[in-house]
Amino acid sequence: QDELKQAVGQAAVDILLPTLEDKSIIGVGTGSTANCFIDALARHKGFFDGAVASSQATADRLKGHGIPVYDLNSVHQLDYYVDGADEANKHLELIKGGGAALTREKIVAAVANTFICIADESKLVSTLGEFPLPVEVIPMARSHVAREIVKLGGDPVYREGCVTDNGNVILDVHNMQIHDPRKLEEQLNAIVGVVCNGLFAARPADILLLGTASGVQTLK
Ligand code: A5P
Repeated sequence: QDELKQAVGQAAVDILLPTLEDKSIIGVGTGSTANCFIDALARHKGFFDGAVASSQATADRLKGHGIPVYDLNSVHQLDYYVDGADEANKHLELIKGGGAALTREKIVAAVANTFICIADESKLVSTLGEFPLPVEVIPMARSHVAREIVKLGGDPVYREGCVTDNGNVILDVHNMQIHDPRKLEEQLNAIVGVVCNGLFAARPADILLLGTASGVQTLK
């Protein structure tokens, strides 16, 4: 799987390379696959300006490579956002947030013109929901949000010991077959106390680079 992750990380760099200019700033996601992208991108340092990071861990890795990291508010244009996923379907709708970075990931994805998702083939599913859906919650609202999620048919589990980069907590929602990701994304967002949920359906990926034993497949 490491080789598949490296292959899709490199494939994303190959898409970006012809578009890079001195002023280019790239949105970068979080996780082991995104890390492969960062390491491949770092070999082309000097051909672009810098990056916006979706987490502190990613910012640290970018800086470790000597890549400047910018605040999203100071960036006028973001052509690409590159990130992994926990699950993806053929419509390029995703579950993300296994690494607890979902809110910043969703913000950077919302700003980018093109969202390239990179994943190994194990992440492609016919119906989202086998991977527990992460929901970022204001700490004092945790029990209220959990009760509301039960009403929606989910089984929320508090991710013990996890505090997000935004100072919030995560509920992982088990046992949901998500047949209408867009609707569930809206329903979860409507619960008071929810900061963000890990469904990327209103803003799915634009390109999915899937690492398979026979090479990188591109889904659009
Ligand atoms: C981080 O919060 C997640 O959204 C990641 O994108 C996801 O967990 C994928 O991580 P891996 O690439 O390590 O599987």
